[in-house]
Amino acid sequence: MTEAAVPAGQAETSPAEAQEQIKLNRREFLNLAWLASLGFLTLSVGGLTVLFSLPRFREGEFGGVFTAGTVADLPAVDAAPANLPKVKLWLSNTPNGLMALYKVCPHLGCLYGWNDQEFKFICPCHGSQYEHDGTYISGPAPRSLDYFVIRFEDQNGNVLAQTPEDGGPAPVPADEGAFVRVDTGDKIIGEAHD
Ligand code: FES
Repeated sequence: MTEAAVPAGQAETSPAEAQEQIKLNRREFLNLAWLASLGFLTLSVGGLTVLFSLPRFREGEFGGVFTAGTVADLPAVDAAPANLPKVKLWLSNTPNGLMALYKVCPHLGCLYGWNDQEFKFICPCHGSQYEHDGTYISGPAPRSLDYFVIRFEDQNGNVLAQTPEDGGPAPVPADEGAFVRVDTGDKIIGEAHD
């Protein structure tokens, strides 16, 4: 059998050179594969970062900011609290301001209720009791009721009053048209008792 003719001007490749060429091709392939993996990893991390930076709760849902009407819609001072089951809270208008009380008992997580005759909250599970403003009275619960941060905003979104930095009732502004925004993603843990 005759050997294939090498075109004029082109040197014949030796076996050692051919071996080297194969090694080079393999290295290029590995480099490309590594770059592709790196690109994929970067895209995945970027995608996850964007995903986690998006708000997880929509406005008006539990976990997000809920607008509980305006100041004009609030219960009168020292009247029975308003029940807002959709966002799991009671709105208590106290002489010191408004409290948005989380409906879950801090003892073992039952839903406590309002007792109008005794004018206090009572938990049906183990009998813990709390004042109108959520302060612990008696029972096995370790602390007062947890509550959420409230902001009163005017029509332009300016904050007129809010829950103080160190907690407690939010002073109710005189503007009857001010919106009552409750941030159910910002919970303040009730004060522990002795
Ligand atoms: S869960 Fe409310 S008193 Fe136990």
